[in-house]
Amino acid sequence: MPDIRNIVILTGAGISAESGIDTFRGGGGLWEQHRVEDVATPEAFERDPDLVLRFYDMRREAIQTKLPNPAHEALARLDAAWDGDLLIVTQNVDDLHERAGARRVLHMHGEHLNAWCTACDARTRWTEPMIDRPACPACGQKALRPDVVWFGEMPYEMDRIYSAIRTADLFVSIGTSGAVYPAAGFVRDARQLGVRTLELNLERSEGSAWFHETRLGRASEVVPEWVDEVLAPAR
Ligand code: OAD
Repeated sequence: MPDIRNIVILTGAGISAESGIDTFRGGGGLWEQHRVEDVATPEAFERDPDLVLRFYDMRREAIQTKLPNPAHEALARLDAAWDGDLLIVTQNVDDLHERAGARRVLHMHGEHLNAWCTACDARTRWTEPMIDRPACPACGQKALRPDVVWFGEMPYEMDRIYSAIRTADLFVSIGTSGAVYPAAGFVRDARQLGVRTLELNLERSEGSAWFHETRLGRASEVVPEWVDEVLAPAR
């Protein structure tokens, strides 16, 4: 792939779908089974913390039983081989990119396997339930919450993401419906900066018209194919 040095990759729930983790929208999606307002807002946590903690305890337990699929593995292969800048910006709160071996990963919506202490602001790796209000290992207060960005909260590290997009030659979006901002707006930002844009998804996303190119198919197929193509000249 000539003239490509710096790559930003945005991933969404579609990349983990074939690992058995529910997507959010569409038939059988998580937001069909739960109302966002009940489980994924700061107001919900204030109103009914048990319901919210139980929901995230179940999700945290479930993701630990899942495995990375060939799409995660292909991105890890690209990360290891790519000399230029590369940033995998994921909206996913699972750890499948990391478990596949990727290193340059930024979790803009937080991580299921982190606890955030609202008393002392410490973040701690957390694999256990929170329903019984365990104490924060840093300060001892019982003020832990899932380190997941809820609706109405600001996603993490936006400055770093925008600065990576500004210096990118290629922006690739994988397995995301393009329904949730600010991530859904990255393609437009990239286009306006003259960055080449590519979409890999099962079906066209809401912002599909903004992409120079769209390749439709299952992530476990289209992602490894694309990575092979990108790495081909280096072989
Ligand atoms: P969505 O559930 O909105 O979209 C998943 C996308 O993946 C859809 O476009 C599907 O067509 C596609 N897809 C499904 N299976 C696929 C497969 N096997 N291969 C490739 N693509 C596939 O999930 P996101 O776009 O990630 O935010 O959702 C964005 C945010 O909305 C999430 O991070 C979450 C949610 O509310 C927060 O919780 C803050």
